[in-house]
Amino acid sequence: MAGVVVPDVDGLARACAALRAGELVAFPTETVYGLGADARRADAVARVFAAKGRPADNPLIVHLADAGQVGSVVSRWTPLARSLAATFWPGPLTIVVDAADTLPSVTTGGLSTVAVRVPDHPVAEALLRAVDLPVAAPSANRSGRPSPTEARHVADDLGDAVAVVVDGGPCPVGVESTVVDARGPRPVVLREGSITREDLGVVGETADPDALRASPGTRYRHYAPRCRVALVAPGEGPLVAKQSIEAGERVALVSCDAAPAEVVTATRFADAADLARHLYAALRAAEQAGADVVVVESVPEVGVGRAVMDRLRRAAG
Ligand code: TXA
Ligand code: MG
Repeated sequence: MAGVVVPDVDGLARACAALRAGELVAFPTETVYGLGADARRADAVARVFAAKGRPADNPLIVHLADAGQVGSVVSRWTPLARSLAATFWPGPLTIVVDAADTLPSVTTGGLSTVAVRVPDHPVAEALLRAVDLPVAAPSANRSGRPSPTEARHVADDLGDAVAVVVDGGPCPVGVESTVVDARGPRPVVLREGSITREDLGVVGETADPDALRASPGTRYRHYAPRCRVALVAPGEGPLVAKQSIEAGERVALVSCDAAPAEVVTATRFADAADLARHLYAALRAAEQAGADVVVVESVPEVGVGRAVMDRLRRAAG
């Protein structure tokens, strides 16, 4: 089993030693837990792909302690990248630019570009600063599963493939970072996140929504628990849950409203940001409770609601 540590001096020292030895370390960020490895070591990064069962053509995000470290992994830090980093780092924005030649191709999934980000989480920051390496880290789930937002989710999915899990409690945002291509004059959104198109509009002009290009990862099935996901309209959750229960199903409910007593598990949320925080844990709770179906109410597609609905549609398949 992976060694779960708290983020004190000893815990961080164990995590640093493991990263320096080319082993895998799971750590919290503001979005979700990452599965980290030394981004410059092909053997270490290969372990990340093996542990996750991740397709080799799906590149990883390289995590840095601060923007001053980009020089070690990128070849061309564009004016747009500089201005996005100045505005949104540390934070849940991943910036894609041309990669340094020295970065192993396993890290970039064979692309000539690299995705970089500086997370806004005290534990991630302490670890990245202490280890002083660029750390490649996808979400710390098995490929295709909901991302982990608590340390135990990582252990449930990855077990001994991870040398150390740094437990920093639940992740405050709950959905993965916004990914933007910053090679040109304007940001092109490749994956939605809690930093929205409107937020990005602050810096240059945001690309037309129709110009949305998928990042490699968005080609694959994602975020899915081992039970059906039924996406329903706001306010309809309890009714749909009752109908499914009457049809003989074991039902989990994720709703703004109170749940009928017969559900196997329920998560109540206040708004889209609250749902973002609890969504992946709710999907995992549903499968653990043996639900046949998890009924989830939609949220309006504004702010972080866009990212939440993107994840929910993919989870629902
Ligand atoms: O919030 C997050 O971004 C979390 C935490 C741990 O930082 N990480 C995360 O990583 O979600 P992952 O590997 O699950 O998702 C990374 C996404 C994938 O869709 C991948 O295809 C895309 O970023 N990506 C990585 N490098 C890219 C590149 N060079 N060009 C385009 N997309 C890229
Ligand atoms: Mg992921």
